Amino acid sequence: MADVAPAQARVSGFRDILSKRCPMTVHDWMHACLADPDHGYYRKGVRVGAAGDFTTAPEISQIFGEMLGLVLAQIWLDQGADPNAILAELGPGRGTLMHDAARAFAKATKARLPVHLVEINESFRAAQAAKLAAYAPTWHDDIATLPDAPILLLANEFFDALPVRQFRRVGAKWFERIVTPDFQFADGAEVATPVAHDVPDGAIVETCPAGESVARAIGSRIAQHGGAALIVDYGSPVSGWGDTIQAVRDHKKVDVFDRPGETDLTAHVDFTALARAAQQGGCAAHGALGQGDFLRRAGAHARAAALSAANPAARTTIETALRRLIEPTEMGTLFRVLLLLPKGSAPPIPMDGH
Ligand SMILES: C[S@@+](CC[C@H](N)C(=O)[O-])C[C@H]1O[C@@H](n2cnc3c(N)ncnc32)[C@H](O)[C@@H]1O
Repeated sequence: MADVAPAQARVSGFRDILSKRCPMTVHDWMHACLADPDHGYYRKGVRVGAAGDFTTAPEISQIFGEMLGLVLAQIWLDQGADPNAILAELGPGRGTLMHDAARAFAKATKARLPVHLVEINESFRAAQAAKLAAYAPTWHDDIATLPDAPILLLANEFFDALPVRQFRRVGAKWFERIVTPDFQFADGAEVATPVAHDVPDGAIVETCPAGESVARAIGSRIAQHGGAALIVDYGSPVSGWGDTIQAVRDHKKVDVFDRPGETDLTAHVDFTALARAAQQGGCAAHGALGQGDFLRRAGAHARAAALSAANPAARTTIETALRRLIEPTEMGTLFRVLLLLPKGSAPPIPMDGH
């Protein structure tokens, strides 16, 4: 019990602080819940994995990171194997994805590139430092300080952790959604220009300004210096409408206003908007292809067979994990992969289809 009282005091303290700051836009509320320097969910704690709040693809099987690393390796070779290139990751969590991807990359290319990580959470940085010690990574608070070099970038479940703005259509008018001091959603100020067309009256439409700005910056880096980005997340291949914000704690869905700062909040990623932003930056966008098809085409089944042959006792575990990543009823179609490349470069695996 000794640990529970201070934690509860901290949580209810942040709830009061948030309530006093309201009304605020849904965007500012989500940003505060996730990234407030003192109380934000992504400022402390290592909450990914079985003992955390949710499990991500790299934590399910090493094959996930290995396939992403191999695709980046092929792209690097196709682009002339520039020794000045860097490996980079946005929101690396426990460092598992980069660990598996960098190993596969080095094995396929015999090259070891510098590793750069963009992370705001000190606890995660410590976990990454332990896991990736052999690569002596460099950390960044945001992508602005990444070196001007060809960039081979990974991002898994990073964009869904960025705050979204919500707008509601009422007849011909659009209102930005806000959070009231008693933690209800409501219509706030009217916005001057329509947010979307072809959506029904009463519909909510989301935009992710931070995500689009990061995608634009990555697109511009790839256009200028070369390289590629593999962006994996859950969401829709086409822009849609509807409130997609959800809250998860301890592997369970909870109310979005429950225990702010102690609960993960995410929104579906709009891959059409991300691709458009990256293209505005000057690169080409391919996909977003379902994660299952991407992994299959990259060679996940052959890798699973090789791992099983090397360790027959683990065959069932390896195959079960791969099914979880690939099957449409699991993560295979809900999660999608967007590949950013310089204009005119062909993807190393087909990225067409859903
Ligand atoms: C959902 S976790 C995913 C972790 C990891 N990519 C994985 O697949 O296991 C989101 C990651 O993004 C980081 N993060 C969240 N918001 C961020 C921001 N604004 N800038 C940099 N990193 C951020 C978190 O600390 C965490 O490492």
